[in-house]
Amino acid sequence: MKITQARLAAVAALTSGAAAITCDKASLQSAFPSIATVDFAQWMPANSTFSIPKGNVAYPTSPTKLRAACAVQVSVKNGTSNYGFGLFLPDDWNGRFLAVGNGGFAGGINWLDMAAGLGYNFAVMSTNTGHNSTSSDGKWAYHNEDALLDWGYRAMHGSTVLAKELTTAYYSNPILYSYYSGCSTGGRQGLRDIQLYPEDFDGVVAGAPAWWTNHLQPWTTKVGSYNLPNTSASHIPVSLFPVIGAEVMRQCDGADGVVDTIISDPNACDFDPNALLCTPASNASACLTPPQLNTLFQIYSDYVDTNQTFVFPHLWKGSELQWFVLLGGLTNEPNNLGDDYVKYFLNRGPQWQWQDFDYGVVQQADAEDPGNATADDFDALSRFQARGGKLLHYHGMSDGLIATGSSVYLYSKILQTLAPKGVNLDSFYRFFLVPGMQHCSGTPSTVNAPWYFAGANQAGSVSTSVSGVPGFRDAKHDVLLAMMDWVEKGVAPTEIIATKWVNDTLQDKVMRQRPLCMWPKKQRWSGKGDVNQASTWSCE
Ligand SMILES: *[C@@H]1O[C@H](CO)[C@@H](O)[C@H](O)[C@H]1NC(C)=O
Ligand SMILES: *[C@@H]1O[C@H](CO)[C@@H](O)[C@H](O)[C@H]1NC(C)=O
Ligand SMILES: *[C@@H]1O[C@H](CO)[C@@H](O)[C@H](O)[C@H]1NC(C)=O
Ligand SMILES: *[C@@H]1O[C@H](CO)[C@@H](O)[C@H](O)[C@H]1NC(C)=O
Ligand SMILES: *[C@@H]1O[C@H](CO)[C@@H](O)[C@H](O)[C@H]1NC(C)=O
Ligand SMILES: *[C@@H]1O[C@H](CO)[C@@H](O)[C@H](O)[C@H]1NC(C)=O
Ligand SMILES: *[C@@H]1O[C@H](CO)[C@@H](O)[C@H](O)[C@H]1NC(C)=O
Ligand SMILES: *[C@@H]1O[C@H](CO)[C@@H](O)[C@H](O)[C@H]1NC(C)=O
Repeated sequence: MKITQARLAAVAALTSGAAAITCDKASLQSAFPSIATVDFAQWMPANSTFSIPKGNVAYPTSPTKLRAACAVQVSVKNGTSNYGFGLFLPDDWNGRFLAVGNGGFAGGINWLDMAAGLGYNFAVMSTNTGHNSTSSDGKWAYHNEDALLDWGYRAMHGSTVLAKELTTAYYSNPILYSYYSGCSTGGRQGLRDIQLYPEDFDGVVAGAPAWWTNHLQPWTTKVGSYNLPNTSASHIPVSLFPVIGAEVMRQCDGADGVVDTIISDPNACDFDPNALLCTPASNASACLTPPQLNTLFQIYSDYVDTNQTFVFPHLWKGSELQWFVLLGGLTNEPNNLGDDYVKYFLNRGPQWQWQDFDYGVVQQADAEDPGNATADDFDALSRFQARGGKLLHYHGMSDGLIATGSSVYLYSKILQTLAPKGVNLDSFYRFFLVPGMQHCSGTPSTVNAPWYFAGANQAGSVSTSVSGVPGFRDAKHDVLLAMMDWVEKGVAPTEIIATKWVNDTLQDKVMRQRPLCMWPKKQRWSGKGDVNQASTWSCE
């Protein structure tokens, strides 16, 4: 690996005359500027459990069976900006830095995703984004512009800068390469960071990004309102979502050429919802009335408002089994991720209710963009491209939280902005759809799609001790290893093989593997052999 003279000189300057930095609070503190305070530093022998510090309501799950490492937590006060971050510094360092992301409005250090990164021997960092909260709670943002800016981008950038300084000082060596991996809000954080600070990361893996947050959040309330109030004749009860999903499966599964419980081309399916209409012959608990079919029509339609303004794309066919998140669980309200944004990010106040929603909410969100969080500076990605950065973006086709079409739209906006300037998108940005995957991870048991490729949150969604892709630790099956090959060896991924294990334990038998294709290519089965083997598929 090449280390430039300039980088070596920078390290020499940083470490000259200073005593070696060790894993204790005072020693680590000596490597920091005064804005940063080391809260604790604790060396963990191999196979340890890291006990999550009290008060971390966002990420309470303790990772287990860790590699030997120094665990550090840091608090930062930088003018009006306040945030913290956690850092694992492995004994057996791979010379590289990884930052991981957060989810929803979560305020807390994501130690569980950090642990998955530690399994590759990265020095790995997560920021708390500047506040304490669960992922669906936005109250902290009320009339608090500084907390919003920290959440929007400041905490990620500042944490990255400081964690890199600490990493360099601890090892007395430069960082060879820096990576980022996050999903949902984590996907947004990665995109926003490289739009503002193209030098922060050499490679960014962004899953199901909440990039268009100032439209996504209002849409969350809008789409929820289609199915409310729950006493209305047009309300579709949660119990009917699997019924709708089964009918979509019946009509759309074969549209990709193979009937295999995986819908991989939902837009090629000419779905006829009238097959669900209640008639005297129907099973009354497995059909929809005309007003309910009207609601279904709304759910499958883009949100377009005044003057034909496109606000947000619709949920895709095949996402029905995750609809309980946005379309009514047991409450009579849209999801908090929409309502809290309007109440506390747009400062309409706690009295605001979803019945008050109108296009003015979208206009205000457009004008204010709370926290400067929306990752829509497509043009800025040319700076990331120019300095050699690589971006890998993916989205599950069965996502019921962030409409899959918002990622397709992101791809087209980046294309429309950069292609006219002569930028070859494939040279630095590649997008992959994941048939049958829900939001960031998982697949319904009636679908059983290959969904695991070591994307952000995936290891943590099945276990407290998994890292990477067990049994398939290579760049063909592991998106982070694929990114490393792209950045370090110039080997760009054309497909990623996703894996589905029996029972999702990552230890049972492999049930299915299948390549995910680089957009706009689609999966095509060869027509010969076992559809559950990746080798019988290609991307065309
Ligand atoms: C790791 O710790 C667990 C208990 O937490 C123990 O059962 C196991 O034997 C240990 N493994 C190794 C390799 O030390
Ligand atoms: C978050 O919680 C921690 C632990 O309880 C506390 O020390 C810290 O002050 C809190 N931060 C904010 C911004 O409220
Ligand atoms: C501190 O704040 C300054 C001014 O806003 C900003 O430029 C800098 O990136 C911040 N640094 C960190 C480490 O947060
Ligand atoms: C009617 O539909 C419900 C819900 O899908 C199902 O549980 C039940 O078995 C069906 N009844 C008959 C008689 O098919
Ligand atoms: C819609 O278009 C009309 C005519 O161009 C314009 O006067 C009006 O302000 C627009 N409304 C909104 C909400 O943008
Ligand atoms: C409607 O919402 C109310 C309030 O949350 C709840 O108590 C009730 O069970 C819901 N009814 C249905 C049919 O879901
Ligand atoms: C918001 O981001 C833009 C770049 O996208 C930048 O020009 C502007 O200064 C930022 N505003 C704040 C308040 O951080
Ligand atoms: C999967 O789980 C089921 C029960 O949840 C169990 O009966 C079955 O043996 C498991 N399969 C494997 C391969 O472990």
